[in-house]
Amino acid sequence: MIAEGEDPAREEAFGMAQRNWWRTVLGEYPTGVTIIGSFDETGAAVGMVVGTFSAVSQDPPLVGFSPARSSYTWDLVRRNGRFVANVLGHEHEGLCRAFFAAGYPERFAGGDWRRTPAGPRLGDAPVWFECIIREVHPAGDHDLVVAEVTEFGLGDHGAGMPLLFLNGGYGTFSASGQAFDAQRFIDRLRMADAVSDRVERFAGEHGVRALLATVAGDSVCVLAGSGPYAGTRMSFPFAAPVASTLAAWGAEEQYRAWLENARHLVGTVDRQGLVRVLDRVRERGYALSHGELMGAEFDRVVTDPSTSRAQLSRLWQNTHRASVRAVDREEEHRTATSIQLPVLDSSGHAVLELVVEDFDPLPDRAGFEELLAAARSTAAELHRAAVSV
Ligand SMILES: Cc1cc2nc3c(=O)[nH]c(=O)nc-3n(C[C@H](O)[C@H](O)[C@H](O)COP(=O)(O)O)c2cc1C
Repeated sequence: MIAEGEDPAREEAFGMAQRNWWRTVLGEYPTGVTIIGSFDETGAAVGMVVGTFSAVSQDPPLVGFSPARSSYTWDLVRRNGRFVANVLGHEHEGLCRAFFAAGYPERFAGGDWRRTPAGPRLGDAPVWFECIIREVHPAGDHDLVVAEVTEFGLGDHGAGMPLLFLNGGYGTFSASGQAFDAQRFIDRLRMADAVSDRVERFAGEHGVRALLATVAGDSVCVLAGSGPYAGTRMSFPFAAPVASTLAAWGAEEQYRAWLENARHLVGTVDRQGLVRVLDRVRERGYALSHGELMGAEFDRVVTDPSTSRAQLSRLWQNTHRASVRAVDREEEHRTATSIQLPVLDSSGHAVLELVVEDFDPLPDRAGFEELLAAARSTAAELHRAAVSV
Protein backbone atom coordinates (compact mmCIF):
# COMPACT_ATOMS: atom_id res chain seq x y z
CA MET A 1 0.00 0.00 0.00
CA ILE A 2 1.28 3.42 -0.92
CA ALA A 3 1.11 6.02 1.80
CA GLU A 4 -0.68 9.29 1.15
CA GLY A 5 1.63 11.83 -0.42
CA GLU A 6 3.66 9.13 -2.13
CA ASP A 7 1.13 8.35 -4.88
CA PRO A 8 3.06 9.27 -8.07
CA ALA A 9 -0.16 10.33 -9.88
CA ARG A 10 -1.20 12.49 -6.95
CA GLU A 11 2.30 13.92 -6.75
CA GLU A 12 2.23 14.69 -10.44
CA ALA A 13 -1.19 16.36 -10.18
CA PHE A 14 -0.08 18.35 -7.17
CA GLY A 15 3.17 19.33 -8.92
CA MET A 16 1.27 20.56 -11.95
CA ALA A 17 -1.18 22.55 -9.80
CA GLN A 18 1.73 24.03 -7.87
CA ARG A 19 3.48 25.05 -11.08
CA ASN A 20 0.35 26.70 -12.41
CA TRP A 21 -0.21 28.48 -9.12
CA TRP A 22 3.45 29.59 -9.14
CA ARG A 23 2.98 31.04 -12.63
CA THR A 24 -0.29 32.73 -11.66
CA VAL A 25 1.19 34.33 -8.57
CA LEU A 26 4.41 35.31 -10.36
CA GLY A 27 2.30 36.79 -13.17
CA GLU A 28 1.11 39.44 -10.72
CA TYR A 29 4.63 40.81 -10.63
CA PRO A 30 5.25 43.31 -13.47
CA THR A 31 8.48 43.16 -15.43
CA GLY A 32 10.13 45.12 -18.19
CA VAL A 33 10.76 43.33 -21.48
CA THR A 34 14.32 43.10 -22.81
CA ILE A 35 15.88 41.44 -25.81
CA ILE A 36 19.30 39.97 -25.01
CA GLY A 37 21.17 40.14 -28.33
CA SER A 38 24.46 38.44 -29.11
CA PHE A 39 26.32 36.56 -31.91
CA ASP A 40 26.87 32.88 -32.60
CA GLU A 41 30.24 31.45 -33.73
CA THR A 42 29.54 32.43 -37.35
CA GLY A 43 28.81 36.03 -36.38
CA ALA A 44 25.06 35.68 -36.97
CA ALA A 45 22.73 37.58 -34.64
CA VAL A 46 21.06 35.57 -31.88
CA GLY A 47 18.75 36.76 -29.15
CA MET A 48 16.02 36.01 -26.65
CA VAL A 49 13.22 37.90 -24.92
CA VAL A 50 13.61 38.06 -21.13
CA GLY A 51 11.58 39.54 -18.32
CA THR A 52 14.30 38.96 -15.75
CA PHE A 53 16.74 41.67 -16.83
CA SER A 54 17.63 43.88 -13.86
CA ALA A 55 20.21 46.24 -12.42
CA VAL A 56 22.62 44.56 -10.00
CA SER A 57 25.36 46.99 -8.97
CA GLN A 58 26.23 50.64 -9.46
CA ASP A 59 29.98 50.47 -8.83
CA PRO A 60 31.09 48.65 -10.88
CA PRO A 61 28.04 48.86 -13.18
CA LEU A 62 26.60 45.34 -13.25
CA VAL A 63 23.34 44.02 -14.64
CA GLY A 64 21.82 40.56 -14.66
CA PHE A 65 19.18 38.25 -16.11
CA SER A 66 18.06 34.64 -15.70
CA PRO A 67 18.00 32.45 -18.80
CA ALA A 68 16.53 28.93 -18.69
CA ARG A 69 19.35 26.38 -18.68
CA SER A 70 17.51 24.62 -21.54
CA SER A 71 17.58 27.69 -23.77
CA TYR A 72 19.29 27.18 -27.11
CA THR A 73 20.04 30.89 -27.38
CA TRP A 74 21.51 31.23 -23.90
CA ASP A 75 24.07 28.58 -24.77
CA LEU A 76 25.22 30.72 -27.74
CA VAL A 77 25.21 33.98 -25.74
CA ARG A 78 27.26 32.34 -23.03
CA ARG A 79 29.85 31.10 -25.52
CA ASN A 80 30.15 34.57 -27.04
CA GLY A 81 30.62 36.07 -23.59
CA ARG A 82 29.06 39.40 -24.57
CA PHE A 83 25.60 40.73 -25.28
CA VAL A 84 23.49 43.85 -25.66
CA ALA A 85 20.46 44.19 -23.37
CA ASN A 86 17.84 46.06 -25.43
CA VAL A 87 15.04 47.29 -23.15
CA LEU A 88 11.87 47.46 -25.27
CA GLY A 89 9.52 50.43 -25.58
CA HIS A 90 5.74 50.22 -25.64
CA GLU A 91 5.64 50.49 -29.43
CA HIS A 92 7.81 47.36 -29.69
CA GLU A 93 5.02 45.01 -28.65
CA GLY A 94 4.56 43.73 -32.23
CA LEU A 95 8.31 43.31 -32.66
CA CYS A 96 8.52 41.48 -29.34
CA ARG A 97 5.71 39.07 -30.20
CA ALA A 98 7.21 38.34 -33.64
CA PHE A 99 10.70 37.92 -32.15
CA PHE A 100 9.40 35.52 -29.50
CA ALA A 101 7.44 33.46 -32.03
CA ALA A 102 10.19 33.23 -34.66
CA GLY A 103 13.13 30.87 -35.04
CA TYR A 104 16.43 31.73 -36.73
CA PRO A 105 17.21 33.68 -38.84
CA GLU A 106 13.72 35.31 -38.90
CA ARG A 107 14.04 36.59 -35.33
CA PHE A 108 15.91 39.69 -36.49
CA ALA A 109 13.76 40.30 -39.58
CA GLY A 110 11.85 43.22 -38.00
CA GLY A 111 13.32 46.24 -36.21
CA ASP A 112 16.18 48.66 -36.78
CA TRP A 113 19.06 46.38 -35.67
CA ARG A 114 22.66 47.64 -35.68
CA ARG A 115 25.80 45.61 -35.05
CA THR A 116 27.92 46.55 -32.04
CA PRO A 117 30.98 44.69 -30.72
CA ALA A 118 28.82 43.20 -27.99
CA GLY A 119 25.82 42.17 -30.05
CA PRO A 120 22.87 43.50 -32.08
CA ARG A 121 21.44 46.77 -30.77
CA LEU A 122 17.90 47.95 -31.48
CA GLY A 123 18.27 51.58 -32.68
CA ASP A 124 15.07 52.86 -31.07
CA ALA A 125 15.17 50.87 -27.84
CA PRO A 126 14.48 53.31 -24.96
CA VAL A 127 17.56 52.04 -23.12
CA TRP A 128 20.43 49.73 -24.09
CA PHE A 129 23.43 48.23 -22.29
CA GLU A 130 26.49 46.60 -23.89
CA CYS A 131 27.76 43.92 -21.53
CA ILE A 132 30.47 41.36 -20.83
CA ILE A 133 29.44 38.27 -18.87
CA ARG A 134 31.37 38.11 -15.57
CA GLU A 135 29.61 35.43 -13.53
CA VAL A 136 27.12 32.62 -14.18
CA HIS A 137 25.50 31.03 -11.13
CA PRO A 138 23.38 27.90 -11.53
CA ALA A 139 19.96 28.56 -9.95
CA GLY A 140 17.42 25.73 -10.23
CA ASP A 141 16.42 25.22 -13.85
CA HIS A 142 17.79 28.68 -14.74
CA ASP A 143 21.18 30.39 -14.54
CA LEU A 144 21.75 33.71 -12.87
CA VAL A 145 23.97 35.82 -15.17
CA VAL A 146 25.91 38.80 -13.85
CA ALA A 147 27.45 41.03 -16.52
CA GLU A 148 29.54 44.18 -16.55
CA VAL A 149 28.19 47.13 -18.54
CA THR A 150 30.80 48.58 -20.92
CA GLU A 151 28.55 51.07 -22.76
CA PHE A 152 25.00 52.23 -22.17
CA GLY A 153 22.61 54.87 -23.36
CA LEU A 154 19.18 56.00 -24.49
CA GLY A 155 18.01 55.02 -27.97
CA ASP A 156 16.29 57.19 -30.58
CA HIS A 157 13.00 56.66 -28.87
CA GLY A 158 10.14 59.15 -29.10
CA ALA A 159 7.81 58.61 -26.16
CA GLY A 160 10.31 56.88 -23.90
CA MET A 161 7.72 54.70 -22.20
CA PRO A 162 8.74 51.09 -21.60
CA LEU A 163 6.96 47.89 -22.62
CA LEU A 164 5.76 46.08 -19.50
CA PHE A 165 4.62 42.49 -19.01
CA LEU A 166 1.96 41.57 -16.45
CA ASN A 167 -0.46 38.66 -16.12
CA GLY A 168 0.63 37.23 -19.46
CA GLY A 169 -0.12 40.48 -21.32
CA TYR A 170 1.72 43.57 -22.49
CA GLY A 171 1.11 47.18 -21.42
CA THR A 172 3.02 50.30 -20.53
CA PHE A 173 3.64 52.78 -17.73
CA SER A 174 1.86 55.99 -16.86
CA ALA A 175 2.47 57.94 -13.65
CA SER A 176 -0.60 58.21 -11.43
CA GLY A 177 -2.69 61.35 -11.56
CA GLN A 178 -1.87 62.18 -15.16
CA ALA A 179 -4.88 60.76 -16.91
CA PHE A 180 -5.94 62.94 -19.82
CA ASP A 181 -9.18 64.74 -18.99
CA ALA A 182 -10.72 65.65 -22.35
CA GLN A 183 -13.46 67.88 -20.91
CA ARG A 184 -10.97 69.86 -18.84
CA PHE A 185 -8.76 70.30 -21.87
CA ILE A 186 -11.69 71.58 -23.97
CA ASP A 187 -12.61 74.03 -21.18
CA ARG A 188 -9.08 75.39 -21.18
CA LEU A 189 -8.97 75.63 -24.93
CA ARG A 190 -12.19 77.64 -24.74
CA MET A 191 -10.66 79.93 -22.11
CA ALA A 192 -7.56 80.43 -24.25
CA ASP A 193 -9.70 81.25 -27.28
CA ALA A 194 -11.71 83.74 -25.22
CA VAL A 195 -8.64 85.63 -24.04
CA SER A 196 -6.33 85.33 -27.04
CA ASP A 197 -7.07 88.90 -28.25
CA ARG A 198 -5.89 90.26 -24.87
CA VAL A 199 -2.69 88.22 -25.18
CA GLU A 200 -2.21 89.60 -28.68
CA ARG A 201 -2.70 93.18 -27.48
CA PHE A 202 -0.24 92.81 -24.61
CA ALA A 203 2.41 91.32 -26.93
CA GLY A 204 1.93 94.07 -29.51
CA GLU A 205 2.16 96.86 -26.93
CA HIS A 206 5.39 95.53 -25.45
CA GLY A 207 7.07 94.10 -28.54
CA VAL A 208 7.30 90.62 -27.06
CA ARG A 209 5.99 87.22 -27.94
CA ALA A 210 3.28 85.86 -25.64
CA LEU A 211 1.86 82.35 -25.43
CA LEU A 212 -0.79 80.56 -23.40
CA ALA A 213 -0.11 77.00 -22.30
CA THR A 214 -1.85 74.38 -20.16
CA VAL A 215 -1.27 70.82 -18.91
CA ALA A 216 -3.00 67.89 -20.61
CA GLY A 217 -1.97 64.48 -19.31
CA ASP A 218 1.81 64.26 -19.49
CA SER A 219 2.16 67.23 -21.80
CA VAL A 220 2.21 70.99 -21.84
CA CYS A 221 0.05 72.19 -24.73
CA VAL A 222 0.42 75.67 -26.20
CA LEU A 223 -3.12 76.82 -26.96
CA ALA A 224 -2.67 80.39 -28.19
CA GLY A 225 0.09 82.74 -29.21
CA SER A 226 0.66 86.29 -30.38
CA GLY A 227 1.76 87.74 -33.73
CA PRO A 228 3.42 85.16 -35.94
CA TYR A 229 2.66 82.60 -33.23
CA ALA A 230 -1.09 83.30 -33.29
CA GLY A 231 -1.96 79.86 -34.60
CA THR A 232 0.72 78.10 -32.58
CA ARG A 233 -0.27 74.69 -31.36
CA MET A 234 2.50 72.57 -29.94
CA SER A 235 3.14 70.24 -27.07
CA PHE A 236 6.12 69.03 -25.09
CA PRO A 237 6.68 67.02 -21.89
CA PHE A 238 5.27 68.45 -18.65
CA ALA A 239 8.55 67.90 -16.84
CA ALA A 240 10.52 70.08 -14.42
CA PRO A 241 11.75 72.79 -14.70
CA VAL A 242 9.60 73.77 -17.72
CA ALA A 243 6.10 75.24 -17.12
CA SER A 244 6.85 75.63 -13.42
CA THR A 245 3.86 77.90 -12.68
CA LEU A 246 1.54 75.05 -13.68
CA ALA A 247 3.31 72.91 -11.06
CA ALA A 248 3.61 75.66 -8.43
CA TRP A 249 -0.11 76.48 -8.54
CA GLY A 250 -1.27 73.01 -9.55
CA ALA A 251 -2.89 70.26 -7.51
CA GLU A 252 -0.50 68.09 -5.46
CA GLU A 253 -0.57 65.24 -8.02
CA GLN A 254 0.25 67.69 -10.80
CA TYR A 255 3.31 68.84 -8.91
CA ARG A 256 4.39 65.23 -8.32
CA ALA A 257 3.88 64.37 -12.00
CA TRP A 258 6.04 67.38 -12.96
CA LEU A 259 8.94 66.05 -10.87
CA GLU A 260 8.38 62.45 -11.83
CA ASN A 261 8.26 63.19 -15.56
CA ALA A 262 11.57 65.07 -15.27
CA ARG A 263 13.14 62.14 -13.48
CA HIS A 264 11.91 59.90 -16.25
CA LEU A 265 13.25 62.23 -18.94
CA VAL A 266 16.68 63.10 -17.55
CA GLY A 267 17.45 60.28 -15.12
CA THR A 268 18.51 61.99 -11.91
CA VAL A 269 17.11 65.39 -10.99
CA ASP A 270 18.18 67.80 -8.28
CA ARG A 271 15.01 67.57 -6.22
CA GLN A 272 16.23 69.99 -3.56
CA GLY A 273 17.16 72.47 -6.27
CA LEU A 274 13.78 72.13 -7.94
CA VAL A 275 11.97 72.59 -4.63
CA ARG A 276 13.96 75.85 -4.20
CA VAL A 277 12.99 76.88 -7.73
CA LEU A 278 9.29 76.28 -7.00
CA ASP A 279 9.46 78.02 -3.59
CA ARG A 280 10.96 81.02 -5.32
CA VAL A 281 8.30 80.94 -8.06
CA ARG A 282 5.50 80.82 -5.47
CA GLU A 283 7.11 83.55 -3.37
CA ARG A 284 7.41 86.10 -6.16
CA GLY A 285 4.37 85.03 -8.20
CA TYR A 286 6.12 84.34 -11.50
CA ALA A 287 8.81 82.13 -13.00
CA LEU A 288 11.89 82.90 -15.07
CA SER A 289 13.71 80.79 -17.64
CA HIS A 290 17.29 81.35 -18.59
CA GLY A 291 19.63 80.79 -21.47
CA GLU A 292 19.64 80.40 -25.18
CA LEU A 293 17.90 77.09 -24.96
CA MET A 294 14.55 78.66 -24.22
CA GLY A 295 12.53 80.50 -26.83
CA ALA A 296 13.00 79.73 -30.51
CA GLU A 297 15.61 77.01 -30.00
CA PHE A 298 13.40 75.22 -27.50
CA ASP A 299 10.46 75.39 -29.92
CA ARG A 300 12.59 74.06 -32.74
CA VAL A 301 13.73 71.03 -30.75
CA VAL A 302 10.33 70.13 -29.30
CA THR A 303 8.42 70.56 -32.56
CA ASP A 304 10.89 68.73 -34.81
CA PRO A 305 9.46 65.23 -35.35
CA SER A 306 12.97 63.83 -35.85
CA THR A 307 14.09 64.95 -32.36
CA SER A 308 15.33 61.87 -30.53
CA ARG A 309 14.64 61.09 -26.92
CA ALA A 310 18.35 61.57 -26.17
CA GLN A 311 18.19 65.14 -27.61
CA LEU A 312 15.05 65.90 -25.62
CA SER A 313 16.74 64.55 -22.52
CA ARG A 314 19.80 66.77 -23.10
CA LEU A 315 17.60 69.83 -23.61
CA TRP A 316 15.85 69.17 -20.29
CA GLN A 317 19.12 68.48 -18.52
CA ASN A 318 20.46 71.86 -19.64
CA THR A 319 17.34 73.84 -18.75
CA HIS A 320 17.16 72.03 -15.42
CA ARG A 321 20.77 72.93 -14.63
CA ALA A 322 20.31 76.55 -15.74
CA SER A 323 17.17 76.97 -13.57
CA VAL A 324 18.71 75.54 -10.44
CA ARG A 325 21.89 77.61 -10.93
CA ALA A 326 19.97 80.83 -11.54
CA VAL A 327 17.64 80.56 -8.55
CA ASP A 328 20.40 81.40 -6.08
CA ARG A 329 21.61 84.43 -8.00
CA GLU A 330 20.74 87.91 -6.83
CA GLU A 331 20.25 89.51 -10.23
CA GLU A 332 18.32 86.64 -11.71
CA HIS A 333 16.38 88.85 -14.10
CA ARG A 334 19.58 89.82 -15.98
CA THR A 335 19.89 86.40 -17.62
CA ALA A 336 16.17 85.74 -18.00
CA THR A 337 14.97 84.95 -21.50
CA SER A 338 11.37 84.16 -20.62
CA ILE A 339 8.87 85.15 -17.90
CA GLN A 340 5.92 82.91 -17.01
CA LEU A 341 2.90 83.86 -14.93
CA PRO A 342 0.03 81.71 -13.76
CA VAL A 343 -3.53 82.45 -14.84
CA LEU A 344 -5.49 81.26 -11.84
CA ASP A 345 -9.02 79.90 -11.62
CA SER A 346 -11.40 80.84 -8.80
CA SER A 347 -9.89 78.21 -6.47
CA GLY A 348 -6.34 79.50 -6.95
CA HIS A 349 -5.13 76.77 -9.30
CA ALA A 350 -3.22 77.68 -12.45
CA VAL A 351 -5.38 76.81 -15.44
CA LEU A 352 -3.15 78.51 -17.99
CA GLU A 353 0.41 79.76 -18.06
CA LEU A 354 1.15 83.10 -19.72
CA VAL A 355 4.61 82.91 -21.29
CA VAL A 356 6.39 86.17 -22.22
CA GLU A 357 9.46 85.86 -24.46
CA ASP A 358 11.63 87.59 -27.06
CA PHE A 359 12.29 90.68 -24.92
CA ASP A 360 15.90 90.72 -25.79
CA PRO A 361 17.95 92.12 -24.24
CA LEU A 362 16.38 93.40 -21.06
CA PRO A 363 17.92 96.82 -20.44
CA ASP A 364 17.96 97.00 -16.65
CA ARG A 365 15.99 96.31 -13.53
CA ALA A 366 13.55 99.14 -14.27
CA GLY A 367 12.86 97.81 -17.79
CA PHE A 368 12.30 94.35 -16.38
CA GLU A 369 9.97 95.66 -13.65
CA GLU A 370 7.95 97.58 -16.21
CA LEU A 371 7.48 94.51 -18.43
CA LEU A 372 6.73 92.39 -15.38
CA ALA A 373 4.08 94.80 -14.12
CA ALA A 374 2.38 94.78 -17.52
CA ALA A 375 2.55 90.97 -17.68
CA ARG A 376 1.08 90.72 -14.17
CA SER A 377 -1.84 92.94 -14.97
CA THR A 378 -2.44 90.98 -18.19
CA ALA A 379 -2.44 87.71 -16.18
CA ALA A 380 -4.94 89.26 -13.74
CA GLU A 381 -7.10 90.37 -16.64
CA LEU A 382 -6.90 86.87 -18.17
CA HIS A 383 -7.91 85.43 -14.80
CA ARG A 384 -11.05 87.57 -14.71
CA ALA A 385 -11.90 86.63 -18.28
CA ALA A 386 -11.09 82.95 -17.75
CA VAL A 387 -13.31 82.52 -14.70
CA SER A 388 -16.23 84.07 -16.53
CA VAL A 389 -16.02 81.66 -19.52
C1 LIG B 1 7.77 38.52 -21.67
C2 LIG B 1 8.70 37.33 -21.71
C3 LIG B 1 9.66 37.17 -20.74
C4 LIG B 1 10.53 36.08 -20.77
N1 LIG B 1 11.50 35.98 -19.82
C5 LIG B 1 12.39 34.97 -19.89
C6 LIG B 1 13.47 34.91 -18.98
O1 LIG B 1 13.64 35.77 -18.12
N2 LIG B 1 14.32 33.86 -19.07
C7 LIG B 1 14.18 32.91 -20.03
O2 LIG B 1 14.96 31.98 -20.07
N3 LIG B 1 13.17 32.94 -20.92
C8 LIG B 1 12.28 33.96 -20.89
N4 LIG B 1 11.29 34.04 -21.80
C9 LIG B 1 11.16 32.99 -22.81
C10 LIG B 1 12.21 33.14 -23.88
O3 LIG B 1 12.05 34.34 -24.60
C11 LIG B 1 12.12 31.98 -24.85
O4 LIG B 1 11.98 30.81 -24.14
C12 LIG B 1 13.36 31.89 -25.65
O5 LIG B 1 13.44 32.95 -26.53
C13 LIG B 1 13.36 30.60 -26.41
O6 LIG B 1 14.31 30.71 -27.42
P1 LIG B 1 15.60 29.80 -27.52
O7 LIG B 1 15.12 28.38 -27.61
O8 LIG B 1 16.21 30.30 -28.74
O9 LIG B 1 16.39 30.02 -26.30
C14 LIG B 1 10.41 35.12 -21.79
C15 LIG B 1 9.45 35.29 -22.77
C16 LIG B 1 8.60 36.37 -22.75
C17 LIG B 1 7.57 36.55 -23.83
